[in-house]
Amino acid sequence: MKYTIGLIGCGGIAGTWLQAVAQHPECRIALTYDLSSQAAAQRAAEAGGRAVADLDDLFASAEINLVIVATPTPSHPELVVRAARAGKHVLCEKPFALNLAEAKSMVRTARDSKRFVMEAIWSRFLPVYASLGEVLQSQPLGRITRVEADLGFVAPTDAGHRLNDPALGGGSVLDLGIYCLHIARFVLGGHESVHAVGELNDQGVDIDATYTLGYANGATAVLRSSLKVATPCVATITGESGTITVERRMHVSPGFTVALNDRAAVYHRHDENGQGLRHQVFEVHRCIEQGFIESPRLTHAETLAYAETMDEIRRQLGVRYASDLTTS
Ligand SMILES: NC(=O)c1ccc[n+]([C@@H]2O[C@H](COP(=O)([O-])OP(=O)(O)OC[C@H]3O[C@@H](n4cnc5c(N)ncnc54)[C@H](OP(=O)(O)O)[C@@H]3O)[C@@H](O)[C@H]2O)c1
Repeated sequence: MKYTIGLIGCGGIAGTWLQAVAQHPECRIALTYDLSSQAAAQRAAEAGGRAVADLDDLFASAEINLVIVATPTPSHPELVVRAARAGKHVLCEKPFALNLAEAKSMVRTARDSKRFVMEAIWSRFLPVYASLGEVLQSQPLGRITRVEADLGFVAPTDAGHRLNDPALGGGSVLDLGIYCLHIARFVLGGHESVHAVGELNDQGVDIDATYTLGYANGATAVLRSSLKVATPCVATITGESGTITVERRMHVSPGFTVALNDRAAVYHRHDENGQGLRHQVFEVHRCIEQGFIESPRLTHAETLAYAETMDEIRRQLGVRYASDLTTS
C-alpha cells in the first residue's frame, strides 16, 4: 500500500473518513489515535488497523506517510505542526485553525518541512462543484451580481458540546460558515469588505450569524450560518441573465439548476450518496504523487483567506477564542 495513514481523532467525522479512504486502492488507515482509547480502538477495528495509546508512536512510525487530523479545531495547529515536522503529509479537517495566525504557522511549518498540507473542504472536490465551475466558466448568467448561501441546523444546546464551547472552537461561522465563504469565493473570488451581525450564546460563541461580503465589481455575497435554526441550506447565484440554484444542502449538493431568462431551466444532477469525502483522498494522493506541497485546487493562500475573513467576522460579532490572545 502506497499511502499508509494515521488517523488522529476518532469521533463523528472519522467514521466517514474510514469509508472515504477505503475507496482508494492505494490508501489505508493503519494507525488510529484519540484521547479516548476506546474510540481509537473502535475505529482501528473498523479500518483493519491498530490503535496507538501514545501519539508519539504514530508520529514515529515509519509506516505512516500521511496523517488525517479529525479532531476539534483547537488541536489542529499542534497536530499539523507535529505531523509535518515528523515528515508526514497532512489532510486537516475544516476549519483549518481558529485564526489566521495559527493557520499561517501551520502552513509555514508544512512548507518548511516540504510536506503536503490541505484543509479538508470537501465541497471543492465534489463533482457537483466541478460541474458548477464548468457551467460558470461559460458565463451563462452574464455579470454575476449576488451570491446568497446559508447553512444551518438546530445543534445540541449543551454547553460542553464542541459547537457551543469556545474552548473547543465553537460557533456557526467556523463550523458551517466556511462552506458559505467557500461557495462565495468559488463564484466571485476574493472580496473587499465584510459586514457581520449575529447572535452569541451565553459562552460567547456565535449561534447565528449573517455576513455580507462586498466585491470590487459591485457584486455582493449574503451568507448565513446558524446553529439555532434549520435554514434552507441553499445557494443562489444571480446574474444579469438568470439564476443558478445550488440545491439543499449546498455544500454537498446533489445538483443545481440553471434558470436563464426566457429559457427552460436545466437541472444538473451529481448525487454522491453520502460518499463525498473520498474525492479529497484522491486529490491528496494525486498531489503527493506529483510532488506538490499544496493542492492547486485548494491552495494555502485560499485557506489563509478563509481564516482571515473568519477572524474579521468574529471581530465584528465579538467572538474571541483564548488563542486569539496568544497567537495574534
Ligand atoms: N467534513 C465534514 O463534513 C465535517 C463534519 C463534521 C465535523 N467536521 C470537522 O471534523 C473535526 C472533528 O469533528 P467531529 O464532529 O468528528 O468531532 P467529535 O465527534 O467531537 O470527535 C472528535 C474526537 O477527537 C478527539 N480529540 C479531541 N482532541 C484530541 C486530540 N488533541 N488528540 C486526539 N484526539 C482528540 C475527541 O475525544 P474526546 O471526545 O475525548 O475529547 C473525539 O473523540 C472538526 O474540525 C469539525 O469541524 C467535518
